[in-house]
Parts: sequence; structure tokens; C-alpha cells
Amino acid sequence: MSKTSLPPVVVAGGAGYIGSHMVRMLLESGFHPVVVDNLATGHAEAVGQATFRQGDIGDPSFMAPLLREFQPACVMHFAAASLVGESMTAPAKYWRNNLVQTLALLDAMRECGVGQFIFSSTAAVYGNPVEVPITEQHPRNPINPYGHSKLAVETALQDYDRAYGLRSIALRYFNAAGAHPDGSIGERHEPETHLIPLVLQVASGRRREIARFGSNFPTPDGSCIRDYVHVQDLCTAHLLALKKLGEGAASTAYNLGNGSGHSVNEVIAAARRVTGHPIPVRDDPPREGDPPVLVADARRARAELGWAPQYADIETIIAHAWQWERSSLARAA
Ligand SMILES: NC(=O)c1ccc[n+]([C@@H]2O[C@H](COP(=O)([O-])OP(=O)(O)OC[C@H]3O[C@@H](n4cnc5c(N)ncnc54)[C@H](O)[C@@H]3O)[C@@H](O)[C@H]2O)c1
Repeated sequence: MSKTSLPPVVVAGGAGYIGSHMVRMLLESGFHPVVVDNLATGHAEAVGQATFRQGDIGDPSFMAPLLREFQPACVMHFAAASLVGESMTAPAKYWRNNLVQTLALLDAMRECGVGQFIFSSTAAVYGNPVEVPITEQHPRNPINPYGHSKLAVETALQDYDRAYGLRSIALRYFNAAGAHPDGSIGERHEPETHLIPLVLQVASGRRREIARFGSNFPTPDGSCIRDYVHVQDLCTAHLLALKKLGEGAASTAYNLGNGSGHSVNEVIAAARRVTGHPIPVRDDPPREGDPPVLVADARRARAELGWAPQYADIETIIAHAWQWERSSLARAA
């Protein structure tokens, strides 16, 4: 299959963590990814060989000509602000970037006749779980502006389908983790707030210790449990969603997680095994609004998309992230 035998796909936020892995997978699968990113948190070098246009998804004078030029089959939308804590203190940024700019993007798509959309949603739309594992039918009651802004987009997507025929699949990720198995791209957030890269920064000497926020949760070892899903597996789900939309599927939403959680203590223990570093821990008070357990029921994605995560094992996820941490330190040296 030649590299450009399949149609263009616009990847909004393709210079970011998950988006850059998607761009690579699209290229390898024969699609023509067109990256749109304002580099607010992304990195131009992560885009690799794909077509890259720097700009804001919310700027119609940038987006409409681009959509007319490439006539993509679909827009994959990773572009967002996604720091839960920051969303509590700066909600205006979250409503504007995640909702207002997304509505502008959807309107540019309507204007240019682009009718398929894959949306990076989040487990944060569920808020505090009333039961786990969490299915797609679980009540959606976000507890922070980040989750609210994502739920608002999901709601708009239902209306845009009903009224304008814009079909979409919202993929509700649990905790994205890991890096490309070849070590060339990975997670690079500033500030970093995610557990696995933080733990590995201790192992590589960039941090002294890892903070454990709470050790008296009602879980077997007292630390929070989360569902870590490999970034490559998330991207595979997007490819399957793209295929499904191409076959005429109705708009819907899927959870993406492995369905088995790992506690903070288990992640630290696995990182000690992978890195051989003792990884000292500091106990801090629990953070407000941190549920004890967040684990996905992702059986619908498996059954309807045919999604079969390849890298569910936590040590593999950490080993790939560790390879990325070491290679990025070597490049910076
Ligand atoms: N990382 C996770 O664990 C996780 C979990 C659930 C959902 N998500 C969602 O997945 C998506 C990607 O997350 P990530 O971790 O890769 O984030 P990221 O910050 O690494 O990537 C986001 C990218 O979007 C770009 N961007 C942001 N606003 C933009 C705008 N208005 N116009 C153009 N570009 C813009 C940024 O520059 C960045 O390159 C986000 O929508 C996030 O909410 C992530």
C-alpha cells in the first residue's frame, strides 16, 4: 500500500502526546495525516514527516481553507487543555479552548462538507463513580471544569449529528500511558502531572522522590487505583473508529481502558522492577476529588470496534515509557 493511497485525515493536536502517536500510526497505515496544532503544549519535532500547519482550531480563517484544500475523510480531535487542577483555577481557559474552539472547528467542518469526527473524550466525564468498572451508561457528572468542557462537546456532537448529519465517535480514555515501542516519541508535558512519567523522572534522576497523594483509600493497599492504557492501543482504537465511521456507523461513544486497574503502589513497584531504581516515595495528603478507583468497562469497544489492546501489561507500558525517558535525556545531554 502506498503511503498516500488512503484519504487525508486532519489530526488536531497532532504535535501533542497522544496525537503524535496517532500521526505516526496513520502514516504507517497508508493515510495522509494533516497535523493542525498551535504548539500550546505540543512539540513540532513530534510531528515527524507528516504535513504540519501551525494554527488554532478555533480560527475559521485558518481552518476553513485547510479543510477545503485537503478535503479530509475525518477530523481526529486531540487538541485540548487537559490539566484537571488548572481547570479548577482557570476555568475560562478550559471552556474557551475545549468547548468554544471545538465548536468553531465543527462549524468550519460543516461549512467545508467534512462529515466525520473522532473526539478525544475522557473518563473525567463520569466524575465520582457510583460503580466500577465504569460502563458507557454510567451517569455523567463531571466534578471539574475539564470534565464539564469535554461532556459539553459530547452533548454538542449529538445535536450536530441530529441537525447537520455530522457523525462522530467520542473515545473516553482512562489513563493514557507508555510511549512508542521504538523510543522515538513519548509523553512530554510541561508541567508533567501523570504518575508514570513522574515516577520515571525519579528513576532517571530528574526528581528526588515521587509524591503519593493519600495512602488510606478504601483499596487493598490504600493507594488510588487507575486504569492505564497504552498510547499505541488508544491510537489503534482511533483507526478502528475511523473505519467504523467510514462504513456509515451512527454516532456513539466508547470507553478505552484495559478493565484492570493498578494502584499507585503497584505502579511504583513495577517501575522499580523495570528500572532497578529504589524510587523513594513521599506521602502527601489526598487531593480533593480524587476517586479511590477509576477502572473502565471497555467491552463495547472490544465487541463493536474489534479493539484488542496489545500492550495491556503494566510492565510493558512502563518499559516503553522508560525507554522514552532515557532517550529524551540522552538527546538533551
Ligand atoms: N493524556 C491522558 O491521559 C488523557 C486522558 C483522557 C483524555 N485525554 C485527551 O486526549 C487529548 C490529547 O491529550 P494529550 O495528553 O496528548 O495532550 P497534549 O497537551 O500533549 O496534546 C494536545 C495538543 O493540542 C494542541 N492544542 C491545544 N489547544 C489547541 C488549539 N486550540 N488549537 C490547536 N492546537 C491546540 C497542543 O499544542 C498539543 O500539541 C486531549 O484532548 C485530552 O483531553 C488525554
